[in-house]
Parts: sequence; C-alpha cells; structure tokens
Amino acid sequence: MSALGAGSSEAARIASASLTGIAAAVASLAGRPYAARANRPEDLSDTAQIELASAGPWTATRLRDTLRTHLKGDRVIVLANREPCIHERTPSGDVVVRHPASGLVTALEPVMRACSGVWVAHGSGSADRESSDPRGRVAINTGDASYILRRVWLTEEEEAGYYYGFANEALWPLCHLAQAHPVFRRSDWLQYQRVNQRFADAVAAEAGCDDPVVLVQDYHFALVPRMLRRKFPRATILTFWHIPWPNAERFSICPYQDEILEGLLGSSIVGFQTPQHCHNFLESVDRTLEVRIGRTELDIVRQNRTTLVRPYPISIDWPGRWNAALPDAAACREEVRRELRLPPNAKIVVSVDRLDYTKGLEERLLTIERTLERWPDSSGPLAFVQVGAPSRTRIERYREFGDRVRREVARINARFGRGQWTPIVLIDRHCEPPEVFRLYRAADVCYVSSLHDGMNLVAKEFICARDDERGVLMLSRFTGAARELTEALVVNPYDLEGVAETLRKALAMPVAEQRDRMRALRAQVAQFNVYRWAGRMLLDATRLRQRERLHVRLAGKPKRRMPFVGALW
Ligand code: F6P
Repeated sequence: MSALGAGSSEAARIASASLTGIAAAVASLAGRPYAARANRPEDLSDTAQIELASAGPWTATRLRDTLRTHLKGDRVIVLANREPCIHERTPSGDVVVRHPASGLVTALEPVMRACSGVWVAHGSGSADRESSDPRGRVAINTGDASYILRRVWLTEEEEAGYYYGFANEALWPLCHLAQAHPVFRRSDWLQYQRVNQRFADAVAAEAGCDDPVVLVQDYHFALVPRMLRRKFPRATILTFWHIPWPNAERFSICPYQDEILEGLLGSSIVGFQTPQHCHNFLESVDRTLEVRIGRTELDIVRQNRTTLVRPYPISIDWPGRWNAALPDAAACREEVRRELRLPPNAKIVVSVDRLDYTKGLEERLLTIERTLERWPDSSGPLAFVQVGAPSRTRIERYREFGDRVRREVARINARFGRGQWTPIVLIDRHCEPPEVFRLYRAADVCYVSSLHDGMNLVAKEFICARDDERGVLMLSRFTGAARELTEALVVNPYDLEGVAETLRKALAMPVAEQRDRMRALRAQVAQFNVYRWAGRMLLDATRLRQRERLHVRLAGKPKRRMPFVGALW
C-alpha cells in the first residue's frame, strides 16, 4: 500500500479535504463523515497529482526550497517558550547540553535546522547565560545546518507568574479534560501579559524587516500575535496551538477570555492539531467577540483583518536522526533485557512521558496491575518500563502527582515482585533521545495512555524507531494522534478491563500482523512528517501574504472579499 493508501487516517482525510473542496472540510469540522477520500493517487485532483508527482514527499530540502521560492528567503523567527537545547552545569562543574522532553521541541527543531532562522525562547538552563553572547544569542550548529537561539532571561517572579502560574495552572488545565481545575490568579495574569510583551519585543529585535515571518508556538504566548501585529501590520504571523482547544462553554470560564482571543486574532493563521479544536476555537470567538466568521472560508474577520483557522496535525522528523547511531532492534532488546536483568522470554512494555496528570499514568499502572492479576503467568514475565521525566515540579499538583505515581509503582511491585524481579521499572529522570529510542526499539508494546492530548509525538517517535517493522502501538483515543494512526490498537485509557484485554492481545500479536500494522503506520508518518506540517503552513501563509500585498496595491479600489484558495492541510 502506498503512503497515500493509508487513507483511512485523519491526516489523509484532511489532505483529501483540501483536494476535494471546502465542503468536505466544513463537513469535517462539523464532525460529519467525508463523502470523498483521496485513497489512491488516481482519486486526487489534477493539481494535486502534479504536486505529488513533481515534488514528491516533504523533506528538509523541500522545505528549504519552499522557503526560498515562496518567501524569497525571508528569515523565519520561531517563538517558543522551551529552548531546543539547555546548557546545564553539573555538580562536578562541567557544562552539559540537554535536549528537553518536549513534543514541541521534537517537532520544531528539525524545521529550524531546515530554515536556518532564529528561535526565541526562555533561557532556563543553569549554564545558559555563560553559553550565550551578551544579547543572549548562541549559534546552534548541527552538522549540515545551523540556526540562532536567542534566549530571553526571566526573573524568578516572572517565571513563577507567567510559566508556572498562568500558562500551567490556568491555561493547561483549562484546555485539557483531565479532572483538574484551572486556577486563575490576577497576579499570574499580570505576569503573563508582561512576559508576553517581553518576548514580543525580543522577536521584534530579531525581525530585521517590516514584514517578518513569525511562528508563534503554543499557549504560553496567546497575547504575542496582537502585540506583534501592532508593531508590524504587514507581518506574517502563524500561531500554532499545540494543546487541545476546549469547547466554548469550558473556555468561557476563563476570566480573561476576551484578551486571549483578541491576542490570538493578531495572527495571520491560527493552527490547531485537529478539526475539532478549530471548530471549538471558532465557537469561542463567535460567542465572545464582534467578528464575522466565514464558515466556508474558515476565517475570522475583525476590524478588516482576516485570520485563517486551520488544522495542521503536527508530526516528527522522518526518517529522524536518532536511529542511525543505535544498534538494530534485536540488539537493543538484548541490551535492555540484560540491563534490567530480564529473562530472555520477558515481554517489554514501554511508556515515555513527562510526569504530567494529563498522561494517564495512574490509569496505566492500574491496567498493568489488572493484567498481572488476570493473567499471572500468561506468556512469560512482563516488564513495564516507564520513563517519567520530572516536569513543572514547582507546581504542587505536579509534585503530588509524581509522589502518587511512585507510591503506586512501589505498591504494585511489592505485590507482584519475586526476588530480584519487579514488574515495573520507573525511570523518573530525564532521558536523552538516544536512550529513549533504544527503549522504543527494545519494546514489544508501546502504550500511550493520555487522558487528553493535542497530538502526542511519543506515538510517532515509537513508529519511527521501529525500522524492523515490529512492535505494537497501543494508543489512547483521546490523543490527536489516534485520528491519524488508525492501525494502532486504539483504547479508552479509563476502561481498565478493556485496556488489560487489549494489552494481552498486543503481547500475543503474531509477527505478521505486527508487520502489517507497523508498515501502514510508518507509511503514514513518513508522508505526514513535520516538514509537511511546516511546509503546508508556510505555503498557506505565502498565499495570504501575496493576497494582502495585492490588496495594498489595489488600495483605493472598492474592496471585495476574496476567497482564500489555500490548502486545508
Ligand atoms: O505539548 C505541550 C507542551 O506544553 C509543549 O508545548 C511543551 O513543549 C511540552 O508540553 C513540555 O512542557 P514544558 O515545556 O512545560 O516542559
């Protein structure tokens, strides 16, 4: 089956929608099934077939060429709170470089390498200052490519209010359906506004022209698009919201909803992971602000400015850079079994997360316990390896959550452990990507159990790691990824009995079935990779930019609303 043949997937459906007309996209936003799908190349429109034949798959080179051709080499500025590499001073006095556990960084870093622009981020490492120049800049060289990291320094008070407070105690629980109440403190909101302005100023200082292309990332910077728009009316501002956008009723509990929506509408395009999140956003805007919403064009017009709203499911680098340095999957399995002192017939289940209450870790542990109860000696010993990277630990809810997870692991291990062997291995420290990829390659099963997740790139990384076409992905249906990765075993993480049964099925899955599923999954992620994500967004931005320039040239002539003809994904 060709990559496009994995046409039951959501990404393919979105692509298909872009090719078969706006009506299909609107149907998708309304949650109705598509009537037409681009399952085979012959189903595609002429233009799409030409695009497919002439350009082929999206790669770093194609993304670079797209920028050169369509944006005339304009510099791309990425604004993201998390920096792609963190300089830390170790207790022994050395400076080490750490790659943070962040889906956003996983996705954006390869794009940045392809675009050679500037990444503006919070300088959070203990050795970041001494590793940067006086303006907070450091060149990141990665073999064939380089880009600039521009660090912004925050005071403790700013970080506490903006990052820990408003971003992660208010917006994060507001947007995730995971039984956690948002906390809205006025003092956090004030810091959020202040820090957003500081980052907007840092972007402005890097712009170098009056119409920069800025990619604003995530819920940390909802106010920045408007701040930039005021300064650069002609800028192209693409904002991508990595986490879910809640339904309009839930969003309306936010006391600062008007300011947040107005802030985001400074963007040229606001992107979300799924059509449902786009729909929720349009509803929130419709209920809150005086705007005109184009239900067919999927745009919002406010004070003569248009903002497009589009789904762009994010993805990963393909084929990725971590596999190359690792031994093959069989050797990785050997190594991991040896290190964990597992017998040769042990089955390995792997999960990799930040220690975050949205990831469903407690439910996952209960599932493992249920599996051990129901099938004590099913097919040899079971080893469940959980990487739980500490995250946002200054927030009490996160500390309590980490403690609960550790207690549960100890309880289950005490109940089922025999001698040296314990069924659960909790690695609660930061792991660098090669270590994580080695675990993926060693696993019989990878289980992603998020209770709510914008996309979840662990699922895609696992697929990328399995060039042996083996291993089974079990994936929560509440992730954005589940809409695309339909050959995974899709589960409801709250249904402990159901998941335990699926896990048993996964552990016993015949090799041929593993291969069929993994091949389809790999074809899907290979085609819908992160270069396509960035490329499609930048192409839409280019068309918008050209249209706006045309409007400026035609100024004085009567204004007519021109339909936007860009792709829907
Ligand atoms: O995927 C959501 C997200 O907030 C990313 O935006 C972020 O990079 C990641 O989770 C990790 O969180 P943090 O940057 O707070 O460590």
